[in-house]
Amino acid sequence: MNEVFERCKQAADYIGQHLDAKDAIGIVLGSGLGELGDEIENPVYVDYSDIPNFPKTTVPGHKGRLICGYLNGTKVLCMQGRFHFYEGHDMKTVAMPTRVMKLLGVKALILTNAAGGCNKTFKPGTLMFIEDFINYMGDNPLYGENIDELGPRFPDMTKAIDPEYNALGKKVAEELGIEVRSGVYMAFRGPNFETPAEIRFAQTIGADAVGMSTVPEILAARHCGLKVIGISCITNMAAGMTGEELTHEEVQETADKVKDQFKQLIKEIVRQM
Ligand code: HPA
Repeated sequence: MNEVFERCKQAADYIGQHLDAKDAIGIVLGSGLGELGDEIENPVYVDYSDIPNFPKTTVPGHKGRLICGYLNGTKVLCMQGRFHFYEGHDMKTVAMPTRVMKLLGVKALILTNAAGGCNKTFKPGTLMFIEDFINYMGDNPLYGENIDELGPRFPDMTKAIDPEYNALGKKVAEELGIEVRSGVYMAFRGPNFETPAEIRFAQTIGADAVGMSTVPEILAARHCGLKVIGISCITNMAAGMTGEELTHEEVQETADKVKDQFKQLIKEIVRQM
């Protein structure tokens, strides 16, 4: 068996002994957005540190556990904290939870993140549905021997974001009166925030938002046939756009301001999915 697949299976087998995620909606909570996990009813927790082959998260504001339970009556499997490439994990580790969710029978995945806005019409606090993405991380979780058990060597990315769930998400936002935008998410390696020159480059090639996550998970999800959508919380305008310097505190402060809207949106999306 493929060694990466074996590692995913070991993790899934362990988690499966503690919770039943069949047909759940998977949710990955990004920087400053972890609070939604505390609203899950009848929660069962599995700490990442107890899961075979899972590394520990190292980012402030990320808790590092799986929560399975009910959100608005819908079964969810929530990752409170994710693994980032910039932490030094390899891409296969970064993408492992996505594959583990597939093995656990998760039906669809909602990825969330904090991102810098490089579309000039965005504002801090804008919520952006990810329509498409640019992988500028210089690596890819699908690199290397293909895991035939999960998906094809050359997966199509024309519809990497599930069109139906994405349309549903935007419909829900409208119903709730939450103003949202759509756009292209461009993933950098980090961990530094981009330079102003990199942001001009990102704008030129069609990015609306920049960040350091999510793309590996989308790639792994699409590869294994797990339907996926993504929502970015634009926590700041990207480097060089305002003249101000960027800080992680600013990212967390903005995420904190929009978290109630964000929670309301996700809760209603999962209910209708
Ligand atoms: N750049 C990259 N990642 C981010 C940013 C940013 O400006 N804001 C939040 N995450």
